[in-house]
Amino acid sequence: VTRKINIAIDGYSACGKSTLAKDLAKVLSYTFIDSGAMYRAVTLFAMRNGWIKENGVIDQKALIASLNTVQIGFKPSQEKGKSDTHLNGENVEEEIRKPHIAQYVSQISAIPEVRKRLVALQQDFGKEKGVVMDGRDIGTVVFPNAELKLFVTADVEERARRRFEELKSKGVESTLEEVKKNLAHRDHLDTTRATDPLKKADDARLVDNTCMTKDEQLTLVLGWVRSLISN
Ligand code: CDP
Ligand code: CDP
Repeated sequence: VTRKINIAIDGYSACGKSTLAKDLAKVLSYTFIDSGAMYRAVTLFAMRNGWIKENGVIDQKALIASLNTVQIGFKPSQEKGKSDTHLNGENVEEEIRKPHIAQYVSQISAIPEVRKRLVALQQDFGKEKGVVMDGRDIGTVVFPNAELKLFVTADVEERARRRFEELKSKGVESTLEEVKKNLAHRDHLDTTRATDPLKKADDARLVDNTCMTKDEQLTLVLGWVRSLISN
């Protein structure tokens, strides 16, 4: 007998969380939810409205007042097996991955009202089980009762290299130094913020994938999943 479970994946920036989450969802026929994409979409929303000033100051009041007009969803991508993030009906998948969004997303995601709204949406996705969600507070806040929790980490040099290569392959201009700086900056803000900071849940299993390929991390975790769902 197999049962459906929720899988919570947290960890530092660009360590391979969403790659692992996507791969697990594919093998298990589960739903993958990229919670970071939701924070990135809210950041784009704030930017387009002019609420992120050039000096980095954010008009939090204006953003909070219009949070109830922000619709975020995921739709199947043209590329088979992938899904695209939609903001108020518009496909913003490409836009939200760019460095100008990465630059401010950790400030936007530190706003308690933003978290409250997105956490509620995320919990809704998980109601029926069979969800793999990756982010920063999934095992601690969004799904504290998830049957399997993972905390993923990798050496920052390796993470920077991976994200830099990924951006390059998408034709996005950046330098390895800039990428590394952004990762370190976000890790700092994400682990030190007052509301739902990134931290390993006590019952999360640690996965350091510095020296693992995507296939190796998948095989490792699938072993855990199979032993959980088969008894
Ligand atoms: O893919 P990458 O690791 O670069 O980041 P992401 O997962 O897309 O998340 C972008 C940012 O959103 C993070 O740096 C956090 O500031 C925020 N985030 C969060 O606060 N809580 C989550 N559950 C997911 C993301
Ligand atoms: O979701 P997160 O920001 O944690 O990372 P990701 O977007 O899944 O992965 C960042 C990059 O690292 C992607 O290009 C992955 O293909 C790559 N990666 C890797 O090279 N080796 C791994 N073991 C995991 C991910």
